[in-house]
Amino acid sequence: MSENHGKVTVVGAGFYGSTTAMRLAEYDVFETVVLTDIVDGKPEGIALDMNQSAPVEGFTTKVIGQTTGPDGSGYEAIAGSEVVVVTAGLPRKPGMSRMDLLETNAKIVRGVAGEVARHAPDAVVIVVSNPLDEMTALAQLATGFPKSRVLGQAGMLDTARFTYFVAEELGVPHTSVSCLTLGSHGDTMVPVPSRCEVDGKPLTELLSAAKIEELVARTRGGGAEVVALLKTGSAYYAPSAAAARMARAVIEDAGIPLPVCAWVDGEYGIDGVYLGVVAEIGAGGVRAVTEVPLTDGELAALRAAAETVRAKQADIASL
Ligand code: NAI
Ligand code: 2OP
Repeated sequence: MSENHGKVTVVGAGFYGSTTAMRLAEYDVFETVVLTDIVDGKPEGIALDMNQSAPVEGFTTKVIGQTTGPDGSGYEAIAGSEVVVVTAGLPRKPGMSRMDLLETNAKIVRGVAGEVARHAPDAVVIVVSNPLDEMTALAQLATGFPKSRVLGQAGMLDTARFTYFVAEELGVPHTSVSCLTLGSHGDTMVPVPSRCEVDGKPLTELLSAAKIEELVARTRGGGAEVVALLKTGSAYYAPSAAAARMARAVIEDAGIPLPVCAWVDGEYGIDGVYLGVVAEIGAGGVRAVTEVPLTDGELAALRAAAETVRAKQADIASL
């Protein structure tokens, strides 16, 4: 008898959503993974395919695919979800910034959030649609959920990219490296070299300031680097790993500190904005934002990021 429990929904069965659903099923922790999309038959087809991988992979989680209509039909399938991951929305193409997606994705995320509030009113919502910080703020507004129950995925991905680049540069396993990235999921991303260690040694003692700045810049442009290579869309393997890990932290009530986009109100002297910070993630979403020690320069960059995203988040009510 399976000890799996809980229901997670992934909205949007594109590259990000389908890889997230697959990872969630392969964890073999959830009882049910629901995958939805507006393209008729796409989520059902993907779910069928995933379920047929279960005998090979050995997971017992059931994947359910459900097409949804513009009138909200089909959304009854998400009822009772403890977690909803929102991946619906356009990805960027080469030359586009995440901000170029704002108006189109705002309409999509607003509609999805309304249905989530109607059909899964107790869920923790994890937003991944871009531009991330703004779409997270919009999802909170449109669901009317407590801010602790709506968070965004970006910091785990950006931190993973930074970690990977440092490990590659030093020729060490990624398990030796502990890194952190805060701020926005955009130009005001704040990779935090002072919080980076390699086998317990500060990164700042292992690499020159110029080399660290090069890795910081590559991290900030990490998404665009993949987009430029793919040409048809954006990254999804590392992003889906991050979102799935967050959903798992919720269902397992892990209470672990993860870099996420969370509501910041007072921490770091920053008031009332969704921003990339470290937060303890558990059953109710964000349990607490954890302030990590920063250098004066890093703190100034984080506050500057807060003001940049605050200006954009102020506009979202009208989108
Ligand atoms: P994709 O184009 O492969 O998939 C998007 C899916 O959303 C499509 O299947 C589409 O039919 C569906 N969709 C559109 N409107 C919908 C609605 N109202 N309800 C349900 N589904 C709907 O794009 P991909 O690669 O999956 O990316 C999804 C989003 O994730 C994009 O906005 C992208 O920019 C963002 N992203 C965010 C990252 C992050 O770190 N936060 C990283 C990578 C991508
Ligand atoms: C990424 O960072 C495009 O936000 C997406 O890969």
